[in-house]
Amino acid sequence: MDIIKVRVARIWQEAGGIKGFELVSQDGQILPAFTAGAHIGVHLPNGVIRHYSMCNDPEEGNRYELGVLKSLDSRGGSNFMHDQVKEGDLLKIDAPRNNFQLKLDAETYILIAGGIGITPLLSMARALNRAGRPYRLYYCTRTAEMTAYRDLLAQSEFAGKVEFVHDGGDPQKGLDLAALLREIRTNGRIYCCGPGGLMAAVKAATAHWPSDRVHFEAFSASPELRPAEAGPDQAFEVELASSGKVLNVGADESLLNVLRDNGIFIPSACEEGICGTCIVNVLEGEPDHRDQILTDEERSANNCITVCCSRAKTARLKLDL
Ligand code: FES
Repeated sequence: MDIIKVRVARIWQEAGGIKGFELVSQDGQILPAFTAGAHIGVHLPNGVIRHYSMCNDPEEGNRYELGVLKSLDSRGGSNFMHDQVKEGDLLKIDAPRNNFQLKLDAETYILIAGGIGITPLLSMARALNRAGRPYRLYYCTRTAEMTAYRDLLAQSEFAGKVEFVHDGGDPQKGLDLAALLREIRTNGRIYCCGPGGLMAAVKAATAHWPSDRVHFEAFSASPELRPAEAGPDQAFEVELASSGKVLNVGADESLLNVLRDNGIFIPSACEEGICGTCIVNVLEGEPDHRDQILTDEERSANNCITVCCSRAKTARLKLDL
């Protein structure tokens, strides 16, 4: 994966607990292009890699804008971003990747954001607006004060397409998803990013929709979105195609750790199946997919696996390693 050197051009308090970061290239060059819904991996000086979605207009080639929520259970990512990173700092990032592609082939779009899940959807709203596609953005937060980009959205040229929903912490006062999503729009698409509870509710409310019209991106692993077909933890073998070597993965071991213990470096970041950094091609055998990043089509094709969290349904997997 390409590493890009960037400079932190600007940091600001965007809303309660949320800071905005503007990254530009260190040498003044144009940054690699990104598409709406894309994210970058930020390599923090404390050794942690964290993934953040760009929220700015993909047409802007000279900067990436991120919104970062200071998480109460931060494992060294958001706390470091909030407390240690300063304007002018130099950082390394991965080139943009997009596991949450905005497909510009629908007649209508429903964007549903929860909290900091607004970031990829803000970029999508900008792209849809630019493309002249009909859409509506539903933005759910606890209070107005905790609503990042509230002023920007309220004053934007697409303000009339944005609906703010503040539930005050009571889901009963939140968005009426059943009513909103009751009618299937076969030519529509839904994009949702937010906390696990919101995404699980959207998933339930769209159970009657074609699954390929409803798209999710998680910013932390959510038990509710774990693939329903995931089996019990059991031991399996993994064969490395390049050497023919066979490794044993115990029922209480992760495939990623077994590979690492045997000297095979696999890049990883989230290690909970939501970023796609550790995807490896599968040549034989059937994975037991535990991730929340692959599409249904990718899962059923069985030709790749997120080695950080997924396992095997067959006794052996042959990996392209
Ligand atoms: S490291 Fe993120 S999906 Fe495996």
